[in-house]
Amino acid sequence: MTMTRKAYADLRSARWMVPDDQRSFGHRSRAMQMGYDPADWEGRPIVAILNTWSDIQPCHMHFRDRVEFVKRGVLQAGGFPIELPALSLSENFVKPTTMLYRNLLAMETEELLRSHPVDGAVLMGGCDKTTPALVMGAISMGLPFVFLPAGPMLRGNYAGKFLGSGTDGFKYWDERRAGTISQEEWQGIEGGIARSYGHCMTMGTASTMTAIAEAMGLTLPGASSIPAADAGHQRMSTRCGRRIVGMIWEDLTPDRILTPAAVTNAVTVAMATGCSTNAIIHLIAMARRAGVPLELDDLDRIGRVTPVIANIRPSGTTYLMEDFYYAGGLRALMRQLGDRLDPTAITVTGRPLTEGLSDAPIWNDDVIRPLSNPVYHEGSLAVLKGNLAPSGAVIKPAACDPKFHRHTGPALVADSYPDLKRIIDDPDWPMTPDTVLVLRNAGPLGGPGMPEWGMIPMPKALLRLGLRDMVRISDARMSGTSFGACVLHVAPEAYIGGPLALLRTGDLVTLDIPGRRLDMEVSDADLAARRAAWVAPAPRYERGYGYLFGRHISQADRGCDFDFLETGFGRPVDEPAI
Ligand code: FES
Ligand code: MG
Repeated sequence: MTMTRKAYADLRSARWMVPDDQRSFGHRSRAMQMGYDPADWEGRPIVAILNTWSDIQPCHMHFRDRVEFVKRGVLQAGGFPIELPALSLSENFVKPTTMLYRNLLAMETEELLRSHPVDGAVLMGGCDKTTPALVMGAISMGLPFVFLPAGPMLRGNYAGKFLGSGTDGFKYWDERRAGTISQEEWQGIEGGIARSYGHCMTMGTASTMTAIAEAMGLTLPGASSIPAADAGHQRMSTRCGRRIVGMIWEDLTPDRILTPAAVTNAVTVAMATGCSTNAIIHLIAMARRAGVPLELDDLDRIGRVTPVIANIRPSGTTYLMEDFYYAGGLRALMRQLGDRLDPTAITVTGRPLTEGLSDAPIWNDDVIRPLSNPVYHEGSLAVLKGNLAPSGAVIKPAACDPKFHRHTGPALVADSYPDLKRIIDDPDWPMTPDTVLVLRNAGPLGGPGMPEWGMIPMPKALLRLGLRDMVRISDARMSGTSFGACVLHVAPEAYIGGPLALLRTGDLVTLDIPGRRLDMEVSDADLAARRAAWVAPAPRYERGYGYLFGRHISQADRGCDFDFLETGFGRPVDEPAI
């Protein structure tokens, strides 16, 4: 590609800092108020560092200090760094769900960049929704940017056993409810499962989304696999600061990186990692922001031919992200994918994603498997359609008991999460291993915000029989660290009158993963009668952000973006007047 160097006078920030007028006098004098000297900005690009640190974001605890490494890199390369705090979206603490606020962070990102005198950005994120949110907003703004992934935390540890974020929390909670572990053991697990800063270290949503960001070309090569607590992460952070300055001079904007080839590479890599089901929604949303019309069917098509080769929990049995890094990390995984990756895609380096991949070391091919010895023979996600989900639903076949890949059973329907909690351990409800547990009104509008309730807890009655899986269906999402025969993201959702709203307890439901079907055995005539009797529920919010959300959120198959944020909605926004 041709490398032209932008002139300083053409930088955005020069519009704020250079003119001999009263406005710019104000910008310069206020910069001097902060102790800066004209030499700090003259002739230099201004780099925004969007930092999602907060006192209640354990996955980004290190960002408070790590940002200093980014600033150092920016200064080394002749830029002027400014740190801008952004919504930290702590997956664990934010209720009802961070998904309600993903688009708020995306809007904040776009508008922070638009309204400030900045020429490019380093985006610091990693905890689940922060990655897609930051990327979506920065794509829409269109300035050069580098994504700086937070890095996974160290392996959890208790009593000599490795513990995986989320996954082992769910697993041991089932054991606790089954009465097989003591209070003391439970507390030991509590203290050992998250023992360093960094994001969840299973192949959950965080690890999946940062891998996707890397495969899209939005990080430095190899960046997404480095554990947060490894000194290599600090060095990578400094390199991000150095690189963004070069990108600004080269005018390496996201539209030059996020081509259809980059999106397809990201989908292939996501499938090979055994990705979180949440990745589907975010991939669609990010691709659409980049003007690439990715559909559920594209994901299923690529999924069918892409084996899962990252042997990381929950799809894998043993390993965690720390092992993945030691085994060679994402570059090693991409090497295993060989010519399945499109070599025309480039990264923030300006060079092809595939450059040098054939020499990427693979230190442990049990962790990062060759295509000939996959963890699971086809992609980790399957898209289902049928009269229960006309616009689609997803399941993670790699993380569910194979005996449920084809299953018919009677539905047991809960209308809400509190309803579900009431039903689940109530001996009066008929519960057999064949029962299909259904939770509805938990979608984008119904949840609200599509909470991660889709891994419906196993009923105690079945746990006591020694069972650990059953078919579960919802219009909710589930944590990327979850597992089980859970059908998710049913669209359209029940709350807006999707067919899931018409299902009744006792109806037979058929799940057919090889056939990609999800159907209820109810006649069209019965469905029409039930539809006529259905009453639409009142909106969840009548003021505030939720009001905006309720009016503009799209369904899961469209990525749950706001309609007015999508590329192509309306005339592009003008640069601010100064
Ligand atoms: Fe932040 Fe899991 S809680 S990544
Ligand atoms: Mg999660």
